[in-house]
Amino acid sequence: ASLLLLWALIGYGLGSIPFGLLLAKGMGLGNLRQIGSGNIGATNVLRTGNKPAAALTLLLDGGKGAAAVGLARIFATEDAAQLAGLAAFIGHCFPVWLKFKGGKGVATFLGLLLALAWPVGLASCATWAVTARVTRISSFAALVAAALCTIWMLVLGAGTAMLLGAVLTILIFWTHRTNITRLRAGTEPKIGQK
Ligand code: G3P
Repeated sequence: ASLLLLWALIGYGLGSIPFGLLLAKGMGLGNLRQIGSGNIGATNVLRTGNKPAAALTLLLDGGKGAAAVGLARIFATEDAAQLAGLAAFIGHCFPVWLKFKGGKGVATFLGLLLALAWPVGLASCATWAVTARVTRISSFAALVAAALCTIWMLVLGAGTAMLLGAVLTILIFWTHRTNITRLRAGTEPKIGQK
């Protein structure tokens, strides 16, 4: 039990690093809180107009989810890996350093899935990419990818992660609640729009 707690803490610590916020600040792109949706993720970094910074944010936010899972798997157990992945996601969305007001967890969700069960990760990335391509709306693509992840787990032989998948789905719908309001009102901006 204390081993699991340790990996939850490591996962949370990794996840709570707000790469988007740090990169935007470090590269002189401004304070993300005052740009677009105010979110700290890659979608909002893209609203600064700097594509490399957005890509790097996506990579690092995804990477911390993958790292949490990978490290726990190498040094501990598969249960620890699932817990560390969830903890990284929670760290990103509710970081203690930002008074628990973090991001929406999409990149971290995709990264942790890729490390946990790569077919599910790839299927979820593809779900996001296809939906984003068709609708041009990042949040909508995230909601569709989140909604389908447990189904991919079932279909692609990662059934033991389905509880984690269900929890992640619920959390992503929660972190996107203002996006859902805008989607329903038809006011959600397309990718790259301010
Ligand atoms: O990654 C978060 C994305 O789904 C929505 O971001 O900035 O449009 O709220 P944003």
